[in-house]
Amino acid sequence: MTRKILIVNGHPDSRPERFCAGLAFAYIDGAHRAGHELRRIDVGSLAFPLLTRNEDFSRPATCPDIARAQRDIQWAEHLVFVFPLWLGAAPALLKGFLEMVACGGFGFDAGSAGNPKRGLKGKSARLIVTMGMPTTAFRLVFGGFGVRAFERGILRLAGAFPVHKTYCGAVELSAEHRDACLRTVSALGSRGT
Ligand SMILES: Cc1cc2nc3c(=O)[nH]c(=O)nc-3n(C[C@H](O)[C@H](O)[C@H](O)COP(=O)(O)O)c2cc1C
Repeated sequence: MTRKILIVNGHPDSRPERFCAGLAFAYIDGAHRAGHELRRIDVGSLAFPLLTRNEDFSRPATCPDIARAQRDIQWAEHLVFVFPLWLGAAPALLKGFLEMVACGGFGFDAGSAGNPKRGLKGKSARLIVTMGMPTTAFRLVFGGFGVRAFERGILRLAGAFPVHKTYCGAVELSAEHRDACLRTVSALGSRGT
């Protein structure tokens, strides 16, 4: 079964030499070969302001890049976010992008505590996270907090399910290790998961 997949490269630097760009490409390559329908967003190449005022959160975003991203998210059945761990969590620009996307009650906005909107219901997601430390350290010493906040506090609260995670740790270790990560991610793309 083929799927409609949106790949979001959440690295603030979208140049191809970043490992996240390589992983996004590997996922797209695998998914393309398997016949999945694909759209792509590079957060680092978009033009959007950061949200600063509460009142703007309740108004629909007027910025063209954000409106286009909202359409792509609505279109997709499966959302794939690729990003580096920066200070234990997703880079600020990716969080800023999601805050803008959530304006006007769109998808990620979980609504009031008593009445979640679940705007991403029916969609699944995967987080592909690169990091300098080994993944066991991130899981066991740091409890995976920054990524769990993304998974549970944003995606699952908005109704996305299931949300899978793939960690690419110790990315500076060796070219062989990075190649193994690329192969793993390409296989995920083939399966559309
Ligand atoms: C500003 C910054 C903060 C970082 N914080 C962390 C961190 O908290 N934990 C960690 O394991 N690696 C950290 N790193 C290393 C990055 O996660 C790593 O360089 C990145 O995942 C490599 O992917 P890239 O080539 O796509 O940038 C940090 C790197 C930068 C530039």
